[in-house]
Amino acid sequence: MAVHTILTVPDPRLKLVSRPVDGVDDDLRTLMDDMVETMYAADGIGLAAIQIGVDKRVIVMDLSEKRDNPRYFVNPVITPLTEETRPYSEGCLSIPEIYEEIERPARVKVEYLDYDGNQREEIAEDLFAVCIQHEMDHLEGVLFIDYLSRLKRDRAVKRVQKLVRSRMETAQ
Ligand code: NI
Repeated sequence: MAVHTILTVPDPRLKLVSRPVDGVDDDLRTLMDDMVETMYAADGIGLAAIQIGVDKRVIVMDLSEKRDNPRYFVNPVITPLTEETRPYSEGCLSIPEIYEEIERPARVKVEYLDYDGNQREEIAEDLFAVCIQHEMDHLEGVLFIDYLSRLKRDRAVKRVQKLVRSRMETAQ
């Protein structure tokens, strides 16, 4: 397994629409293993493949407290099950240290292929619903800051660029 570099805004690859995966094979499992390791190393709870530069419709997630329950979503499809929305203060590994309250449907159905390529379907609520909708957006090239005003979005991107620059200087 390998930890990959996570792309940050304004990297244009984060705006790509990811492509469906033909099926789950060992190569895809290696990608998913790398994504989980990368997510853990960055202390995140979810990661889409495009965040490490791979435009495939693959998401990994771990919402467990002990960080020992990785979950895999290949070619996910989500359907809102309610018009009720809930606000949640979202963050993103591609937009480090920025948090903004975003409203999303409170309950959604998720259909996907799992790590073994089996078709699955479940209902997502609470943090799971927030996270799967946030990650699904990545597959469409949408970031949570896209829901903000242009002013707030531009300010967030500038702050991230400054942060990334200072991290690189510290690393040298
Ligand atoms: Ni994100």
